Amino acid sequence: MTIPGKRRLFFALWPSDNVRQSIIKASKPSMHKLKGRVIKPDRLHITLHYIGPVNEEVKLCMHEAALTVSGKPFELNLDYLGQFIRARILWMGTQEIPVELNQLHNDLGQALSTCGYQCDRRPFSPHITLMRKCVKPVVHQPEISIPWRIDEFVLVESVQDKTGVSYQVLEKYSLM
Ligand code: 2AM
Repeated sequence: MTIPGKRRLFFALWPSDNVRQSIIKASKPSMHKLKGRVIKPDRLHITLHYIGPVNEEVKLCMHEAALTVSGKPFELNLDYLGQFIRARILWMGTQEIPVELNQLHNDLGQALSTCGYQCDRRPFSPHITLMRKCVKPVVHQPEISIPWRIDEFVLVESVQDKTGVSYQVLEKYSLM
């Protein structure tokens, strides 16, 4: 639902086209066997912090807060297909969350708290949602190893129109 004067935002890790293609290639055989709604390739991402609908003032505050976050680039290995059974989600993630990723998540959450953001109390569980409404379990864990160099994070707007939801990257924040 669109709220007048507000934009639905989230901070995310956004894969390059190459990583995106590798994710699709690696997950296709498993998804083939599962019933569900496949997420479009251009929407694949890892959410760092979901903000929700905010006005322009809060958006600006969050952008400025994100600019204060620093960190070095790091490597993330996508090597695991998982499921959130109750939420009926199939996802891709990593068996070893890099310390730098947890640090980035914490630092960004802290920075955003100055704009009134309250971090999700649940532990951070980085994942790329591949399929929704997925009722069948993954029987075989495929051999996956997709190296993804993380050298930036992004601010994304989720835009809803008559044709559905699309994601638009509004800002990029380099790690160096
Ligand atoms: P998901 O992929 O696990 O559903 C944009 O909606 C992104 O924000 C999605 O990646 C979604 O995660 C994440 N998100 C986290 N909390 C959310 C919420 N309360 N409502 C909508 N999306 C949320």
